[in-house]
Parts: sequence; C-alpha cells; structure tokens
Amino acid sequence: MTDELEKIEQQTSLQNREDEKPGPYIEFKHVFKAFGEKRVLEDVSFTVMPGETVCILGRSGVGKSVTLQNIMGFLKPDSGRIVVAHEDVTDYPDREMERIRKKVTMVFQNGALFDSLTVGENVAFPLRERKDLNEEQILQIVDGLLEMVGVKEMRDLLPSDLSTGMKRSVAIARALSAQPECVLYDEPTTMVDPLMAQLLGDLIKRLKIQLNLTSVVVTHDMRLAKKLANKVVFLHEAKVLFFGTYAEMEKCKEPIVQEFLQLDELQLLA
Ligand SMILES: Nc1ncnc2c1ncn2[C@@H]1O[C@H](COP(=O)(O)OP(=O)(O)OP(=O)(O)O)[C@@H](O)[C@H]1O
Ligand SMILES: [Mg+2]
Repeated sequence: MTDELEKIEQQTSLQNREDEKPGPYIEFKHVFKAFGEKRVLEDVSFTVMPGETVCILGRSGVGKSVTLQNIMGFLKPDSGRIVVAHEDVTDYPDREMERIRKKVTMVFQNGALFDSLTVGENVAFPLRERKDLNEEQILQIVDGLLEMVGVKEMRDLLPSDLSTGMKRSVAIARALSAQPECVLYDEPTTMVDPLMAQLLGDLIKRLKIQLNLTSVVVTHDMRLAKKLANKVVFLHEAKVLFFGTYAEMEKCKEPIVQEFLQLDELQLLA
C-alpha cells in the first residue's frame, strides 16, 4: 500500500509542497451570511493552516454546509472576507473561482457521482480534463487511487451498484484525482454503519498524513472529530461558540459544547 501511495504521489505530484506559502490556507474574517430574514452566519472567524484538518461541528441547520459553500464560492458572504488557497476570494467572479476550485475540491454528502459512468470513469473524469495524460497513464492512476481508498475491485461497476460508504470512497478518489491541495468533506460518515464510518475516518486521516492535504471536515461525529481534528470550529446559533483544539474543547465550559460531548459518550455506551 505504501509503495502504491508513493507511486501515486510521484505520478500526480500531490506532495509537491515546496512552494508552500506562510499564513492560513483558509480564513474566515468576520463573515456574515443571511437568507432573507434568516441569519445563518454572524461574525464567523476561523483559520485553517496549511496541512491542518479543521472539523466544523454544530447542530443540524446551523450553517456548516453554508460555510463550505462559501469556501467553494458557490455562495458569497454578505460581509466579511474569505481567504482560500492564500488568496482573498471574497470578490472573485466565477471564472477566478474555477481556478481556486482546481486547488480545493469538495466531497459532497451524497458523493455526487455521475450515475451513467462506471466507478473507474468517474475517477478518471478530472484526469481526462487535464488532457496531458495518455489512456494508459489514466488507467494506472485510477487503479492506484481506487486501491488507496479500498475499492479497487469496484472499478467497472456503476455507482448504483455501490453502498453509500463505497460511493463516498469513490467520491474521495475522484476528488484526489484532481490533485487538490485541500479537500472539503461534508458529513463523510453519516448514513453508513459504524465499521464503514471508521474506515472512512481512517482513510481521511491517512490521506491527511501521507498526502499532506489541508482538510475541512463537516461532521456530527465526535469520534471522527477527535480522530482527525487539529482544530475544531463549533457553530451555534450562527456564531462560533468555540475555536481551538479538541482537547481544549473538552475543557470548554459552554453548556452546548458539553452537551454535544456528553451525548456522544451516551451513544458510545448505548
Ligand atoms: N441556498 C439557500 N437558500 C436559502 N436558505 C438556505 C440556503 N442554503 C442553506 N439555507 C439555510 O441555511 C441554514 C443552514 O443550512 P446548512 O445547510 O448550512 O445547515 P447544516 O449545518 O449543514 O445542517 P445539516 O447538519 O442538517 O446538514 C438552514 O436554515 C438552511 O435552510
Ligand atoms: Mg449540511
């Protein structure tokens, strides 16, 4: 597996980090976002340093996915500034955002795979768009990526033949084939069984370490956050209630944060 990874790293130069810049890779500076009367983000600030994994926690509807959409530029803030890939992207038009989206890719909750393409073709899609690889190179990278995420034998199946967890693994492989510097995951472990959740969590952790990816993970899953997070952003009622390490969060006195932590302990006991 390690050999396989090294090969992929060479082929896709995923680990080409000599040009790493100082300062946060992603930063929210006093971001406000409302939909009509509904205020979703109010004065939200946090940073994601290069190579860091930041988990965004909070109750359903609190604005976690909206935060990711703002990073991708699918939504724009009402006020505040957003830095992505070391650039202030707040006023970037779509054309400029497309350049940023080559560096920062998102793994959607439902996988968002192309239903009519096989698993292999899905993963090959971003590689074909590059137009600098021949068919043999593409197949080799696809096989390597599928092996890396543990679904190599699924290459010729259609997404409809896969379980939710496997679809998510394929979506991760497809995201990686675009050679991103940063991957955003929206709820990577919901709606899969605990074993699959653990496998996906381990996979994200392995990618973080071995590919030095910067990652943002939206999740309700406290075990996942504990496993992955360098920092946690805890959103509540449109505000950042807590921003810091997981260990610091465990000591945080905010009742909602404590409730979240205790609820998870109860689930573990059940
Ligand atoms: N495009 C949109 N137009 C209008 N309202 C929206 C839009 N996107 C999100 N919202 C609203 O913003 C709020 C936050 O939504 P968001 O999807 O970010 O929640 P979430 O924290 O991701 O929740 P969940 O854990 O259930 O996925 C919700 O009230 C939602 O209805
Ligand atoms: Mg969401």
